[in-house]
Amino acid sequence: MHPIETNRSLDERSLSDIISANLHSPRLRSLETVKSSESLEGLISPSIRSSVGTPRDRHNFEPHPMIGDAWDALRRSLVFFRNKPVGTIAAMDPTEDSLNYNQVFVRDFVPSALAFLMNGEPEIVKNFLLKTLRLQAIEKRIDCFTLGEGVMPASFKVLHDPLRKTDTMIADFGESAIGRVAPVDSGFWWIILLRAYVKSTGDHSLADMPDCQRGMRLILTLCLSDGFDTFPTLLCADGCCMIDRRMGIYGYPIEIQSLFFMALRSAKSLLKPEGEGKEFLERIDKRLQALSYHIREYFWLDHTQLNNIYRYKTEEYSHTAVNKFNVIPDSIPHWIFDFLPMNGGYFIGNVSPARMDFRWFAIGNCMAILSSLATPDQASAIMDLFEERWEELVGDMPLKVSYPALEGHEWEIVTGCDPKNTRWSYHNAGSWPVILWMLTAACIKTGRPQIARRAIEQVEQRLSKDGWPEYYDGKAGRYIGKQARKFQTWSIAGYLVAKMMLEDPSHLGLIGLEEDKKMKPALTRSASWTA
Ligand code: GLC
Repeated sequence: MHPIETNRSLDERSLSDIISANLHSPRLRSLETVKSSESLEGLISPSIRSSVGTPRDRHNFEPHPMIGDAWDALRRSLVFFRNKPVGTIAAMDPTEDSLNYNQVFVRDFVPSALAFLMNGEPEIVKNFLLKTLRLQAIEKRIDCFTLGEGVMPASFKVLHDPLRKTDTMIADFGESAIGRVAPVDSGFWWIILLRAYVKSTGDHSLADMPDCQRGMRLILTLCLSDGFDTFPTLLCADGCCMIDRRMGIYGYPIEIQSLFFMALRSAKSLLKPEGEGKEFLERIDKRLQALSYHIREYFWLDHTQLNNIYRYKTEEYSHTAVNKFNVIPDSIPHWIFDFLPMNGGYFIGNVSPARMDFRWFAIGNCMAILSSLATPDQASAIMDLFEERWEELVGDMPLKVSYPALEGHEWEIVTGCDPKNTRWSYHNAGSWPVILWMLTAACIKTGRPQIARRAIEQVEQRLSKDGWPEYYDGKAGRYIGKQARKFQTWSIAGYLVAKMMLEDPSHLGLIGLEEDKKMKPALTRSASWTA
């Protein structure tokens, strides 16, 4: 594949705003104690891309040896359909039973796609977007039930017939997945990736194609349709996203809400206002307003807000209720009182009637920063939390997917005794190197690159030596996961994306959205918002 010249004119204004805002933020100046060669000057240097797989280091230092290994491994993971690359396989571990890890997962391909885009190789991303769009059009049935038209696959497999010399593609929309749950995140990632492709190449022709416009509208139809909802958040089954097994995230999980918000904002920039597009754009605007208000207001937790909840009265009736969801203060788990520092805050895992899931989830919080669902003050408070609770959230291996672990009886009830999700393992507070790219992007967006550097240094101690595992176990993430696959592609690609973004922060434009000033919340409630 030949890299092509990328056009980033679309990004320039917004990014220079972000970067210059970060340069002038008092927080950044006080925290920026890194050597001059690593300072923010470097962060705004022009991008350097390489014509071969491994990008050169901008300081003319030897690039970290892991970078070359990672590119080799990423290229080995390519999946071809009729001789064209269409994605990357989830894992290339020869020692483990492949189960469905020999497939291209939509969510897993995102960091691979970003790595290729950042390296000036958009072709595979285009092929992937077009192929998955074709798969979306298939009629999807589970037993006698037909799924919504817009559902995007969780994953697909390419079967090569060497005799007939034919390739066939088989998609899984959840009907073969463990637990039989449809991936709500896939459609959102698809739209987000389409925007990244347009941003990276400057080529609007793909997104403007009637089929792509229709594909987007179908995804949006699934989540913007009228129903019995009283909240603008999206009601989901357990296991419908990266956490794809029962983990008590049913309801309104923050990961989905952040991706929903980002997909709506991305679609807003891609949908053409003609024909049906116009109506969708109006619905998107309304939903974005309501969604941002709801999440910023009811999912946000910091010291002041926790104290408010702790003192909540219950059984309040009418519009003037303070405790709107009738959360009983006795249901607040004990750990949160010690965990929550005076500085810092985060969006909690879930909010629904009489239920607040106080667990911290990495993807939802990082994506809330990247999409600007988090206000600048909230984004900054989330970064404060990372610093204050480094041992707990990052430990030896970035990054805990959730915190803390469910244990004992709670684990039995919530996970249904899932032996893969035992405490401090896998989705139950295991550590997932892939999330490094989201952390790094969030760090750059909030002007805190030193946090990303610290995390990347930790990854570089072990990840390649350990064979790029899928996840780590233990409170500090010190042990290679019990059932972790090796050569997990998104662990590899996530590292590359983190490195490339830190080297050239203008890449942030592919995946970061500027704050929409019209969506400012009316309320300022707590210390960390207004600090
Ligand atoms: C596991 C993860 C899921 C991922 C898949 C392939 O099922 O939970 O998020 O997409 O593996 O890597």
